[in-house]
Amino acid sequence: MAALAVRGLEKRYGRVTALGGVDLEVGEGELVGLLGPNGAGKSTLVKIVCGLTRATAGSATVCGAPAGSLAARGAIGYLAELFRFPGWYRADEVLELHQRLAASRGGAAERSELLDLVGLEDVGRKRVDDFSKGMQQRLGIAQALVGSPRLLLLDEPTSALDPAGRRTVRGVLEELRRRGIAVLLNSHLLSEVELVCDRVVILSGGQVAAAGTPDELAQARGVEIETGSGLRTFASAAREDAPRLVAELVAAGESIYGVRVLTTTLEEAYLEAVGGEGS
Ligand SMILES: Nc1ncnc2c1ncn2[C@@H]1O[C@H](COP(=O)(O)OP(=O)(O)OP(=O)(O)O)[C@@H](O)[C@H]1O
Ligand SMILES: [Mg+2]
Repeated sequence: MAALAVRGLEKRYGRVTALGGVDLEVGEGELVGLLGPNGAGKSTLVKIVCGLTRATAGSATVCGAPAGSLAARGAIGYLAELFRFPGWYRADEVLELHQRLAASRGGAAERSELLDLVGLEDVGRKRVDDFSKGMQQRLGIAQALVGSPRLLLLDEPTSALDPAGRRTVRGVLEELRRRGIAVLLNSHLLSEVELVCDRVVILSGGQVAAAGTPDELAQARGVEIETGSGLRTFASAAREDAPRLVAELVAAGESIYGVRVLTTTLEEAYLEAVGGEGS
């Protein structure tokens, strides 16, 4: 059963259509990146899955339970896009509060395991006010993992992180994959998404503009071969064709100095899918 199944999901805020019929699935243990320009509907989708706002039409189910139901809420962990923990709380107390809210019985062992996972093991007794933005964001991820959710919804969890912090979060996401926890990751950081996600869904104007694995989206754009008589481009060739092309050129007496498989980056595929638009 899918960790998250979204079918024909629509959301209108008055005259604004935030989601215009979205289908999306996150398999058990799968890490799916949700991309799209500002206002594409990413946060709206996540909020519907959490039960924070209701869909106008369509459905969303979490591990088979309707979004917003007790069973669905019990199966998710959520880090909101704009969150703030009370500044006077210690990191450990933030997690304790969320353990109570999520009725987790993990106790001190769960708290220290989670702080360890996000690299905050040494600052559990520090107050949130003394945390950098990046530390708060990592604490936010630890908070979302309280109670061992089956589906984790992260709305831009790395926006405030420096490169080292992002690497820590990538490590956390890889660890979650090993543990079989499904993740829907909202992000604008395409290179990050490309590195960690099994699959990518690109929203634009409330519709799915493109979807697939990062490799599928970054399609082949031909093969370039540097020969003694100049650069030869085989526009319709794919990676698999490279050895044959080289063999043919060598057989024809050419010297080969280099071979390059041309691909679009996820960024190019993204810009193509959303029409280069942002708002
Ligand atoms: N509570 C609301 N009331 C009215 N309109 C809303 C509300 N929440 C979102 N919208 C509108 O719905 C659309 C989708 O917004 P949403 O926040 O889901 O986008 P997003 O993809 O998360 O964007 P961003 O990348 O900026 O976070 C936007 O046009 C936004 O103005
Ligand atoms: Mg958003």
